[in-house]
Amino acid sequence: MDRTVTVDDHILASEVEMDRYVFDTVWDRIWIARNYDGVERTNRNRGFIQQDKEELWQLVEKLLELKPQKMLEIGNACGGTTLVWQAVVPEVYSLDIKSIEGHIPLSYFPDVKFLVGDAHLQETLDMTKAHAPFDFLFIDGDHSTDGVKMDFEMYSPLVRKGGIVGFHDYNHGPVRTFLDTMLDSLEILPRDYFGIALYRV
Ligand SMILES: C[S@@+](CC[C@H](N)C(=O)[O-])C[C@H]1O[C@@H](n2cnc3c(N)ncnc32)[C@H](O)[C@@H]1O
Repeated sequence: MDRTVTVDDHILASEVEMDRYVFDTVWDRIWIARNYDGVERTNRNRGFIQQDKEELWQLVEKLLELKPQKMLEIGNACGGTTLVWQAVVPEVYSLDIKSIEGHIPLSYFPDVKFLVGDAHLQETLDMTKAHAPFDFLFIDGDHSTDGVKMDFEMYSPLVRKGGIVGFHDYNHGPVRTFLDTMLDSLEILPRDYFGIALYRV
């Protein structure tokens, strides 16, 4: 198929219609971006995106159906997932305890508002609340049992009714310990690699 999509599409994210071709383009760009600081990263630390490609695509397909207009991500690490959200959701808020600056140029994210703070502090919740409600919340921050529980209990009230909460790493023991307490309300995406669980608010 003849497409006019270029490698810089993630920068024009909100102007491009996401489909598998654009997803692949953005994904490839993320792996180019991993060498931005000249540091050789191996698969052991999974580079700049800590996702399985096909599993993330299954989530993106869901988002294309649901069409969230505004989202919050908790945990961006080096911005890999954030680049993907930017290409799917018009308004992206991305929270992490540390800034992504130094990992990847902020100029890659024209459509993202970054929030920096410990998600478990009231002041961070208050700062985030100012931008609510969200249609989609992606929780990929503190992976301890209490950490993911707090993220859910503090931030899911900021998601509008009918919106969704996505949890990364259902297959990570401490995360699963919490998620299994609400398993009846969850959908686990079929790829089931790291495990992405969805909860409908
Ligand atoms: C697994 S990484 C996120 C990976 C990213 N979503 C991706 O797939 O490429 C987890 C991130 O959560 C952040 N984090 C951990 N505890 C946090 C907290 N209490 N508040 C905010 N961010 C936190 C860490 O700094 C780290 O960047």
